[in-house]
Amino acid sequence: MITKCLPVEEDAIQFASRLLRDGQVVAFPTETVYGLGADALNESAVRAIFAAKERPADNPLIVHVAEESHLDGLCQVTETAIKLMRAFWPGPLTMLLMKTSRVPDVTTAGLPSVAVRCPNHPAALRLLRECKLPIAAPSANRSGRPSPTTAQHVYEDMQGRIPLILDGGSCQVGVESTVVDLTGGVPCVLRPGAVTPEMIAAVAGECTVAPSVMRPLKEGEHAPSPGMKHRHYAPKAKMTLFVGEDEKVAAEMARRYDETDNAVILCHTGLIPLFGDRRVYPLGDSPMESAHVLFQRLREMDELGVSLILAQGWETRGEGLAVMNRMARAAAFDIVQV
Ligand code: TXA
Ligand code: MG
Repeated sequence: MITKCLPVEEDAIQFASRLLRDGQVVAFPTETVYGLGADALNESAVRAIFAAKERPADNPLIVHVAEESHLDGLCQVTETAIKLMRAFWPGPLTMLLMKTSRVPDVTTAGLPSVAVRCPNHPAALRLLRECKLPIAAPSANRSGRPSPTTAQHVYEDMQGRIPLILDGGSCQVGVESTVVDLTGGVPCVLRPGAVTPEMIAAVAGECTVAPSVMRPLKEGEHAPSPGMKHRHYAPKAKMTLFVGEDEKVAAEMARRYDETDNAVILCHTGLIPLFGDRRVYPLGDSPMESAHVLFQRLREMDELGVSLILAQGWETRGEGLAVMNRMARAAAFDIVQV
């Protein structure tokens, strides 16, 4: 199959919409990462997503809609859900709600709940309105690779597997949406993202965070979200994370760098001058800036073939939680508090 890559112009959106209505798979940009979309209510179309991604069938997909009213008939919308949608949609917040029988089991991997989200990206919204379908879309990487934040990343992973990639440039947020479970009493964040637990609590009254967000699952522990139990993206190189006061972190990273062959440093941009002529790449100067470049950097490190990645982390509060959750997993939770 030839994979076309087209800028998000009107003709391309209409072409994408025809493909989706025909049960095919199309990659499209969102504000978080690129998605690999197909008709969420068409079983064979959804199976084609799992096949293109080589995704385990027990890992459910997020259903994307253009507005609140498009959830009618798909799930039981709770009062808390309505409050959160009004506060954060369109935006990087995915909610777990009880599904109806219209949503096929393949889409939710047999779970009674369905994940729903309205992306804040003009091309994604335009496409959802044009095709008039709820679109199931996981991140558009092959399983085990970092989520794609440019059309080029999608092409690297999906070339020959899907007919079309809509190119909307680089994704603004850079890490996947917050996943919050609304099927129990208190909203519970299963995957942190740009909408923080603090922001959810401010609207919903309270919000908890699943313990496994910042530590590995224990042997035999039930994964509240199937995505947590699958091996997450790990760079080819070993990766160690450093947190603490800037100068101390820089000194410790430099020391480890000097005692290792072929190491590389990823640090907050402002710290770069502290490393002299060592090999160093910027991670921005805020958690959100780090989130924006993280997956790109990890792909670059794989290409460079380094043996050790020494990366500077963030506090796991507020916006720091989302990027640290991804960094900690990439580092197999090897975190040094300096
Ligand atoms: O930002 C995003 O959320 C991107 C863009 C494309 O929208 N999508 C994305 O999808 O990251 P994916 O499939 O890569 O991650 C979805 C996560 C997985 O960890 C999955 O296990 C979890 O959400 N999930 C989906 N449905 C669920 C359900 N019913 N119950 C529990 N977890 C669910
Ligand atoms: Mg994913």
